[in-house]
Amino acid sequence: MRIENPNVLAALPGLEVEHRKGVALAGQTSLGIGGTTDLLLVRRHKHLPELIRLLQQEGVPHRFLGGGTNLLVRDGELPWVMLQLVRPQPEVVIEGNFARVDAASDLGRTVTFCAKNNLGGMEGLIGVPGTVGGALRMNAGAYGMQIGSYVREVELYRAATGRLETLRGPEISFEYRHTSFAPDDIMLAVQLELPSKAFREIVEGIRVCNEKRRSSQPLNQKSAGCIFKNPPGASAGRMIDELGLKGHAVGPARVSDKHANFFINKGNATSAEMLALIADVRERVRRAYGVELHEEVIVWKD
Ligand code: EPU
Repeated sequence: MRIENPNVLAALPGLEVEHRKGVALAGQTSLGIGGTTDLLLVRRHKHLPELIRLLQQEGVPHRFLGGGTNLLVRDGELPWVMLQLVRPQPEVVIEGNFARVDAASDLGRTVTFCAKNNLGGMEGLIGVPGTVGGALRMNAGAYGMQIGSYVREVELYRAATGRLETLRGPEISFEYRHTSFAPDDIMLAVQLELPSKAFREIVEGIRVCNEKRRSSQPLNQKSAGCIFKNPPGASAGRMIDELGLKGHAVGPARVSDKHANFFINKGNATSAEMLALIADVRERVRRAYGVELHEEVIVWKD
């Protein structure tokens, strides 16, 4: 979608928003899939409520893009514009055991920055691609930890009120790959409380997690991480693997040979091909195990 509405175009400079025209989401997502639309880069959180109010008023549909690492976007000309936050400087401010982190910060860089300040706990998240905001929204976790355990406060744009708000940790529920945030809430910043740990100890934890991840996940391929959530008490990857589906493909969309819950884009896969592969694998698992797999990846089909 191209923004052509004169009221919107005229307001963007005053809201400190950069307008990029005709951006291919295939270049903005780790799967390398997704159609084209205009992108609005938001430099200041404080302008977000006014920007969204304006887009609503003028009838310009919009969605919010984080790091694009857990996202499957439809093909073609997209019927909405994208909003994305620009990272401020500094991204992380540390005070004692508290780290205030901007939501647009890279998760891996945040983990290592905290480590250098002798704050640990997030070692398992090293190697999880994406932003801190995305990790928060999905309650990213690995190797027995999840980010939600360390959250003390979240600053966000609340879709329900149209305002910037701050929620305290106990007001948010963090479950397995699920949180109580509304789908159109936008994460802005988080305050984490992290345990003190010696830098060397944290680095050792990071090394161990990195090694485990490298040996079991296809990190250098185009993917969105795990496609399905694990059903209670089971592993989606193991189930798909047991059905002999590693390497199973629809065009260039293919079940990874390394980890069967990672679906990779071997070339220029379309969203339709990836969705067909997801539907096919889900159906085979349902028939073989009587279990319905639910997507972990966020899908924007329409
Ligand atoms: N397994 C297989 N074949 C496979 C994949 C896995 O037999 O192709 C077996 C493994 O050998 C292991 C069991 O299944 O015995 C579980 O596998 P793994 O340890 O890789 O964990 P997972 O349950 O598949 C979860 C998360 C990952 C996270 C890892 C490590 C989900 C959906 N996945 O994977 O998160 O990195 O644990 O903690 O919860 C993600 O969220 O995108 C993601 C990759």
